[in-house]
Amino acid sequence: MRNLGLVASSCGGLDTRFRAEIAEPAAARGWRLAITLTPTAARWLAAADEIGKLAALTDLEVRSESRLPGEPRPHPDPDVFLFAPASANSVAKLALGIADNQALTVVGDALGDPAVTIVVGYQVRDERSGHPAWQRHLDALSSAGVRLFRLDESWSTALQGLPA
Ligand SMILES: Cc1cc2nc3c(=O)[nH]c(=O)nc-3n(C[C@H](O)[C@H](O)[C@H](O)COP(=O)(O)O)c2cc1C
Repeated sequence: MRNLGLVASSCGGLDTRFRAEIAEPAAARGWRLAITLTPTAARWLAAADEIGKLAALTDLEVRSESRLPGEPRPHPDPDVFLFAPASANSVAKLALGIADNQALTVVGDALGDPAVTIVVGYQVRDERSGHPAWQRHLDALSSAGVRLFRLDESWSTALQGLPA
């Protein structure tokens, strides 16, 4: 079973759509899910009573916090990541190399390793394209080999970016 680093940040619809449209279909396709959430995403999913339901899809713990020094690493190192939904905030921080939470740490560590596939499906307001740094962030990630696209009506289309 191939490991998939499944990462999510706090975008509208996360609490109702992430499990049904991304996590469950990915598990159904045979991926072993290593789920890591931003702190805000974890708070939203906990409030919606979703964390246990996500945990039931995998034998790996659902993470949102860093381990303590001396604790074993709870996730393997996947060679495929799907970061979806990714917020404007997380896309910008990833492009800049900021790793101030566990989600950005795992993806940021993998970014730049040519052996790792990273797919990012972002959900942002139309106005975001007017931000002076937005296109540069997308370009920085694309030039590093990240497969980037904007999520559309069905978040499940994000799975099409994954290797077969
Ligand atoms: C109800 C709600 C919906 C949101 N939806 C989005 C969204 O779809 N995309 C986005 O970029 N930010 C959205 N935000 C703002 C992010 O949650 C906010 O920028 C947050 O700091 C992102 O943190 P994270 O990337 O660490 O999860 C939303 C906020 C709220 C309260």
